Amino acid sequence: MSQIAFSNAVTELFGTRLPIVAGGLMWLADADYVAAASRAGIIGFLTAASFPEPRALRDEIRRCRDLCEGGPFGVNVSMLPKLVPGEKTREVFELIVDEGVRFVETSGRNPQEFMPFLKQAGVKVLHKVPAVRFAIKAASIGVDAVAIVGAECGGHPGLDMVGSFVNAAWAESQLDIPYLVGGGIGRGSQLAAALTMGASGVVVGTRFVVAEEIWAHDDYKYRLVDAGPTDTDLCMQSVRNTVRTLRNETTAAVKEIEARNPNVTIQDLMPLVAGKIGRDAYVTGDWSKGLLAAGQSLAFVDRVEPLADIVRRFESDMWQALTRLANNCSGFVDAARGVPA
Ligand SMILES: Cc1cc2nc3c(=O)[nH]c(=O)nc-3n(C[C@H](O)[C@H](O)[C@H](O)COP(=O)(O)O)c2cc1C
Repeated sequence: MSQIAFSNAVTELFGTRLPIVAGGLMWLADADYVAAASRAGIIGFLTAASFPEPRALRDEIRRCRDLCEGGPFGVNVSMLPKLVPGEKTREVFELIVDEGVRFVETSGRNPQEFMPFLKQAGVKVLHKVPAVRFAIKAASIGVDAVAIVGAECGGHPGLDMVGSFVNAAWAESQLDIPYLVGGGIGRGSQLAAALTMGASGVVVGTRFVVAEEIWAHDDYKYRLVDAGPTDTDLCMQSVRNTVRTLRNETTAAVKEIEARNPNVTIQDLMPLVAGKIGRDAYVTGDWSKGLLAAGQSLAFVDRVEPLADIVRRFESDMWQALTRLANNCSGFVDAARGVPA
């Protein structure tokens, strides 16, 4: 089944075999991971914020290009308000263009001010948002595609907290550009469902974190394998920066502070939530501390294996789902093809 050629707006946009995007992963999405995605027939995004020094980012882009051997790859530029000053963001985009990168995944804030520059350089923009209303805005400023992540997602689900199943079907009537959905996606059957609802692809984070090519410590990866969909916590709603992360000592402490003091500030929480603590957890494998983004698709995280194997299983699961649809509902399929039942 998996040899059947597949083509739609997302595979054509990125030049991939499958309409699956491996979204940016802070600290984790490096050249090895992104190149593994490229070889597996999908597209991954190097996470620019993980390489704060311009020289380091440039070197990583070059390493990625070499490893991809002509295959597609992109750079994620997360523009969380306040945390990343505008000047630095412009510098990052300039570097990306200078290096001839063809695709960016933007998130955190609208890339409107950078669109003319990116368009002129021929860079294709996938903007990732946590709600359909932001996707509508993104479409109006000329991005090439949008990814809408739902409440289930690892990382930042936004404030609306609408689920991915609703987003997938709702966006179809709201958007006239290709859209992907993400949040809780870890099986090919979900990709098949998203496609039937009108999406052109899916964006995946949590499911891919246990890939062998991810450099993080095995103790952390095996914790993700053991964990299930109820092992995440939502924190930082009180500072309007909600994150879904693996439940641990830090999430308990943060939730406790937020419950006690609704006026808590991000600065108050910083000693617990600083990104460096998360990075240390990836290095040492001690997952008990730090906000370690992870979503409800932990349900599907069942072993540590090469990314290509995860993608292969994803793909065969997608075909199985479509076969199930054809076999169990053949009347519908014939009707859809215009064949009289
Ligand atoms: C460990 C981890 C780190 C992430 N870091 C980023 C990031 O730096 N920038 C970004 O735009 N998205 C980031 N995300 C979000 C993913 O790119 C993707 O949108 C999300 O994980 C999809 O939901 P899922 O986790 O349910 O698959 C991260 C997700 C995870 C799990």
